[in-house]
Amino acid sequence: MPPLEHIQCSEDARRGARRRLPRMLFDFIDGGAGEELATRRNREAFARVELMPRVLENVETRRSTCDFLGRRWGLPFGIAPMGMCDLAWPGTDRAFGDAARDFAIPHCLSTAASTSLEACRARAGDNAWFQLYVGAPETGWDLVRRSLDAGYEYLVLTVDTPVLSRRRRELRRGFKVPFRLGPSQVLDFALHPRWSLATLARGVPRFGNNRPARGGSSQAFDRSRSRGAVDWAFLDELRNRWPHRLIVKGVLSPRDAVRIRDAGADAVYVSNHGGRQLDSAPASIDVLPAMRRAVGPDYPLLLDSGLRDGEDIVKAFALGASFVMLGRPFLYAAGAAGRSGVYRLVELLSGEVDAALAQIGRTGIDALDEEVLARPGAAGPSHSHA
Ligand SMILES: Cc1cc2nc3c(=O)[nH]c(=O)nc-3n(C[C@H](O)[C@H](O)[C@H](O)COP(=O)(O)O)c2cc1C
Repeated sequence: MPPLEHIQCSEDARRGARRRLPRMLFDFIDGGAGEELATRRNREAFARVELMPRVLENVETRRSTCDFLGRRWGLPFGIAPMGMCDLAWPGTDRAFGDAARDFAIPHCLSTAASTSLEACRARAGDNAWFQLYVGAPETGWDLVRRSLDAGYEYLVLTVDTPVLSRRRRELRRGFKVPFRLGPSQVLDFALHPRWSLATLARGVPRFGNNRPARGGSSQAFDRSRSRGAVDWAFLDELRNRWPHRLIVKGVLSPRDAVRIRDAGADAVYVSNHGGRQLDSAPASIDVLPAMRRAVGPDYPLLLDSGLRDGEDIVKAFALGASFVMLGRPFLYAAGAAGRSGVYRLVELLSGEVDAALAQIGRTGIDALDEEVLARPGAAGPSHSHA
């Protein structure tokens, strides 16, 4: 494996992935909904937040751990749930699971993963979380049963995809699972032989969780199926049936967050799906301060969408996050350099968080507050989201 000095940040990984992957797959990973305004807004919102350097604090000893939902994690971030990760590079789900185990960070396996939830739990151990998409209810309950049987203790219900949005780059490239190969896809694959040969050698990835639900015939995951029937009553039922930690993902409205908290969820996961669902949605980092005010100082809030480096992670904690996840950067890293790229990214992010903490005069991430911002109180949009 070549040295990884060419990957010094997640953007380097993105460039590497762009070179190695067929354009159809790079665009599946990199793209967003509509005009991709929300995807850009996520980055612009983070860029607007400034941290204030502080001096002469003794920061000689710093810790990277973070307490969240009843556990001490090795680092304050994890791997967000993403479907079909093995399309980025063969073995990516397994690499995520191994990294989760080795760094003691969460790896949230998607319902739409290319690896089965049982195999991933065996790999990542108790660092594995499971993300639930519910189309047909019987397949949803079957997945819940399977996650319980497999030993999962963290279940993430994603609620921001009642329908799959129109992602124009995917549509233009003819992205479909399973692949439909026309002349332009064949040419695309031929122009990216490293990916194509590696993928052919390991077999084209499929939905790893798909098998007929007990007593039914529908598959666990059908990408184009509506998930619009998931409602408040479903959440209540899920809360009754799931005895462990329950997290609700894809929440941007503080009103919804309060209702989810009151329904007994253990955490709200603030996310605009990386800008892949509603193009006009606000950036999750912009709504975070209002979310924090709405749910109270101690209620667990998880956040993703647009984080690209360690300073972004610190900013999210300063604005009220209790833990954060990153999505695309991990797929870029896998696409650029496979398994070692994934490990490289975790180490880079960890080093960046540590350096940022030292610069702002703090020794740990879990006690951050608005005081570390250059302009406390000025973050977020001027109007209230409550
Ligand atoms: C290729 C891809 C597939 C995704 N699949 C899922 C999924 O199956 N379930 C889910 O809850 N979120 C999914 N997401 C959204 C991520 O969990 C996460 O919210 C988003 O990537 C965060 O934004 P970021 O990519 O800017 O870090 C996916 C994101 C990407 C990029």
